[in-house]
Amino acid sequence: MSNSATPRPLTLAVPKGRISKVLVPLLAQAGISAEGLLGDDRRLVRESEDRRVRFLLLKPDDVPTYVEYGCADLGVVGRDTLLERNYELYQPVDLHIGLCRMVVAAPVGARIPPVPRVATKYPRIAQKHFAARGVQAEVIFVQGSVELGPVTGLSDLIVDLVETGSTLRENGLEERETICSISSLLVANRALFKLHHDRIAPIVDALRRAVEPPPPAQ
Ligand code: PRP
Repeated sequence: MSNSATPRPLTLAVPKGRISKVLVPLLAQAGISAEGLLGDDRRLVRESEDRRVRFLLLKPDDVPTYVEYGCADLGVVGRDTLLERNYELYQPVDLHIGLCRMVVAAPVGARIPPVPRVATKYPRIAQKHFAARGVQAEVIFVQGSVELGPVTGLSDLIVDLVETGSTLRENGLEERETICSISSLLVANRALFKLHHDRIAPIVDALRRAVEPPPPAQ
């Protein structure tokens, strides 16, 4: 029996923005030529050179949603997003890219009140962190430019990502605590991973090999 339906190419949801620059070389190591991701145009669907893989370019926080609903087989997501919200996703590979850390920061030298106000894009992570320390923090949700919280008096502290530390420094803030390390993970739709294992698993394995070199021979 002939199967006339063309199978959907394997679909990988990727975050728009700075991660592309490190993701493209990693995909190349896994045998996927994804130079098209670097093109400076407005196309939100792109393809690998051999058309084996289709890429969906998304806001980082939307990647897990597209994978969870099965519109993409795989996705690249920051651990920060996965910690902040609950997703039913398989997380087969830590890609070791997008490395940064989640921290608590304050104005340099500032005394912090017993019930601090904390500005953050990550209310759940912040709430959990302070609750674990018995601190009754008032967590204030903001969408970005979080460092402005203490600068303007909105908050005493922030919980945010730090990569180079220059945003903290340039806004008169200092790191007070590290909450956790963050990197980007490969995630997969659980049902599709089982259903199309023959198509999806080789790409997952190739990416795993690209980030985790084999152990030295005995
Ligand atoms: C992120 C993060 C910090 C900054 C940290 O913000 O929220 O503000 O990068 O990087 P650094 O330690 O290298 O300075 P992003 O640039 O994504 O913009 P946003 O503040 O609008 O979220």
